[in-house]
Order: sequence, then structure tokens, then C-alpha cells
Amino acid sequence: MKKTTLPLGIGIIGGGFIARFHIKSWVGVRDADILGIFDPDAKRAREASALAKSLGVGPAKPYASITDMAADPRIGALWICAPNYTRGAVMEEIAQAVIRGKAELIGVACEKPLGRNVREAGKMLELVQKAGLLDGYLENQVFSPAVVRGKEIVWARGAALSGPPYLARAAEEHSGPHMPWFWEGALQGGGVLNDMMCHSVEEARFMLTPPGAPREVLTPVSVTAYTNCLKWQEPKYAAILAKNSGGKTDYLKRPAEDFARSLVEFRDKSGKILVVETTTSWCYVGAGLRLSMELLGPEYALQINTLDAGLKVFFSREVKGKAGEDLVEKQNAEIGLMPIVADEAGEYGYIAENRHMVQSFLRGVRPEENFSDGVAVAELLMAAYRSAELGRTLAFPIKGLDEYVPPVARGKWNPRS
Ligand SMILES: NC(=O)c1ccc[n+]([C@@H]2O[C@H](COP(=O)([O-])OP(=O)(O)OC[C@H]3O[C@@H](n4cnc5c(N)ncnc54)[C@H](O)[C@@H]3O)[C@@H](O)[C@H]2O)c1
Repeated sequence: MKKTTLPLGIGIIGGGFIARFHIKSWVGVRDADILGIFDPDAKRAREASALAKSLGVGPAKPYASITDMAADPRIGALWICAPNYTRGAVMEEIAQAVIRGKAELIGVACEKPLGRNVREAGKMLELVQKAGLLDGYLENQVFSPAVVRGKEIVWARGAALSGPPYLARAAEEHSGPHMPWFWEGALQGGGVLNDMMCHSVEEARFMLTPPGAPREVLTPVSVTAYTNCLKWQEPKYAAILAKNSGGKTDYLKRPAEDFARSLVEFRDKSGKILVVETTTSWCYVGAGLRLSMELLGPEYALQINTLDAGLKVFFSREVKGKAGEDLVEKQNAEIGLMPIVADEAGEYGYIAENRHMVQSFLRGVRPEENFSDGVAVAELLMAAYRSAELGRTLAFPIKGLDEYVPPVARGKWNPRS
């Protein structure tokens, strides 16, 4: 493993939407600078580099390949922010660069989901360990200040005096992803269940886990899930997806679920059953992205709703500005009473997430949220797909889960046929 020097040099793979969030978050991250971007789309790489420079978070420059960037001795860790369908090839190239002695790195941090299914997520874990690298799984919600502080208070006061929480609810909803590849089951790995329930199951599990305890204290017992395509299979909306993708996305023939819910039972160390209830959708048209979380116990309740923002603005119908995403992520309107998430990179958890990854890498310890968590999340999601496919509750362990690819990821799912 590379010797640690300050600041840690970071290379970002994929310079799109989420890379911009990470770069913006870096104003709150110490001891690390963003030095490189690799993106096959040179314009994206230039734009992301320029953003890093303009924010003063590192003299980033575009690199011609992942291997070139990894081989730069100033780079110590890589952030994988490329689309889901590139995960395997990206991680393979990183691992090979390290194993063949072309690159010396400390660690890799990878965006959610770790893989499109259990097999792919497991391969990511195998490769990172083969290369001897530290691994961080970028699940921002478990670093969100409201989630972290809420968990701390609820467990310190409510749980300590009246007993641990028994029900965690988590929902992530918006009006649909920004790029055509997200909508394609085969490229993304599924629909909204794979894209957004990965956040919800992990945030809810985190809330139910006693502070400081390892993930293993909660064992999944059963899963009951439901998926449907409520909005985007309607001809009017399917036509929009087709237009946005140059005719490639066909939700009349190959839809993906735009609504999914799951109920997961866990067992704690004392044998008690705890419940995680999640709901996710790409068909929620409110002001913008809405994250809602709850944690309920015998004598207490916690609740978070990101659209219940402290800051709101009102624009009358005379303010006819152009459509934008300057008030809140996945914004749907520009007039009327609009909530504003004042510091999205902070409030959604990206700053604390990146601080944790950087500090773990610099100390040479495995981040608390790591690829093993990414694999565990993939197992829950695939179990949910299988439950929805069969229309019944499934008990863990679920046979064949390691090789399971949901019908939606095989282009074989259509709730209307
Ligand atoms: N944590 C979150 O809340 C969150 C939010 C959005 C996206 N994500 C995840 O981040 C990843 C990227 O999503 P996005 O919204 O930024 O997508 P995007 O399409 O906006 O950006 C992806 C970028 O990767 C580039 N790219 C394509 N192939 C590549 C390759 N082989 N190597 C390097 N770069 C490549 C593309 O040119 C593009 O610029 C996805 O896995 C997604 O699930 C996470």
C-alpha cells in the first residue's frame, strides 16, 4: 500500500452529476485535494476539473485513462462515480493497475449501488481485496447530519430509557432520473428499486443498529416487496422517455418499475424482530427530491423530511424564469412557495461521507461503510426483486440469490403484459 502523504490526492472516475456533488462537498473536506478526473467524455472531464479548480478544492486535470490517473504518484485514492454498467470494468482496471505495479493507491470509494446484482457487487469486493486496497461504499444517507444526530439522540435518550427502536421507515422519491441510462433496466440493474431503495434499506438498517455495533448484529429474516410502473408506462410519458433518449428507451415494451416498496424483517441479538419499511418512486411530483425517514420506539419517534426545509422562497406568477435545479435537487417548479435545501452537499451527507473516507484512508483503516455493506445491500435488493416477482414473502437465506438477475434487468418485465 502507498505511503501516506498529506494532502491525499484524489482521482474521480466519471465526471457527471454525482461527481459534481462530491466536488462541491470538498469545500468541507480536509487533508485531501481533487487532482484528477477521468471521463471518456472529454467535455465532462474538463467541466468537472474546472469546477474543482474554481472551488479551490484541488488543481484537478483530466487524464486519458483510469490507469494513467492511478499511476500518477500524487494520486492516492480513487472515487468511482461512473454509471452502474461500467462498475466491473472500472474496478478491474484499477485492480490490474495496482497488481501489476503500475499504480500505488491506498483506497477506492465507490458510489451506490456497488453492483447491479449480488454477483457484480461480490466481484467488486473480491477485486478490491485482491488489490490490497481499502474500500469505502459511498452511501451518503448514513452520513447525513440529521440522520447521524437523530440516531445519536434517539439512542442516547429514548432507547436508553424506554428500549431500542423497532421500526425504521425510509422513503426516497422524485420525478425520475436525469440521464437515459438510469431508465434502462439492463444498464442500471433495474428501476427505482435498484436505484433508490439501496439508500433507504441502508439508512433504515443504520438507524436500527445500536451505535457503534457492527452490521452483523441485525440478521435479515424475511422480505416482502412490491413493484409497479405507475406513471412512465403511460403512452404520453413513455413518449417523453423515448424522446430524451433519441428513441432508445421504450417503456411501452421494456419498462422498469417507477414505484417500489419493501418490508424487511431483521432479528437482533436478543431474537427480537425489527422492521424496515421502505418506499421509493420516480413518479413523485412535488417540489423536488423528497427524503423522508422515521425511527420509532416504545416512547419516541424521530422524523426527517428534506422538503420541510427551514428556508423557503415564494415567487409570484410574474417571475417567469427558466427551468432550473437551483433550489433543490430534481426540482419540478420555479414559482409559488418553494423549499430550498440551503447546503445540499452537507445536508444529504456528502461532506461527512467524504471526510470519513479520506480520514479512514489516511489512517490506513477500513471505512465504516465499505464494500461489504454494498454487497449486503445488493442482497436485500435482489431479495426484494425476487419477492416482488413471486408475489410473496421470502425467508432468508434465499436460494440462488447470488446468481439472481431480476426480470427488469433482463428486459423481461412488463406489469401490463
Ligand atoms: N449517492 C447518490 O445519491 C447518487 C446520486 C446520483 C448518482 N449516483 C450514482 O453515481 C453514479 C453516476 O451517476 P451520475 O448521476 O453521476 O451519472 P451521469 O450520467 O450524470 O454521469 C456519469 C459520468 O460517467 C461518465 N462515464 C461513462 N462511462 C465511463 C467510464 N467507463 N469510466 C469513467 N466515466 C464514465 C459519463 O461520461 C458521465 O459523465 C451511478 O452509479 C449512480 O447510481 C449516486
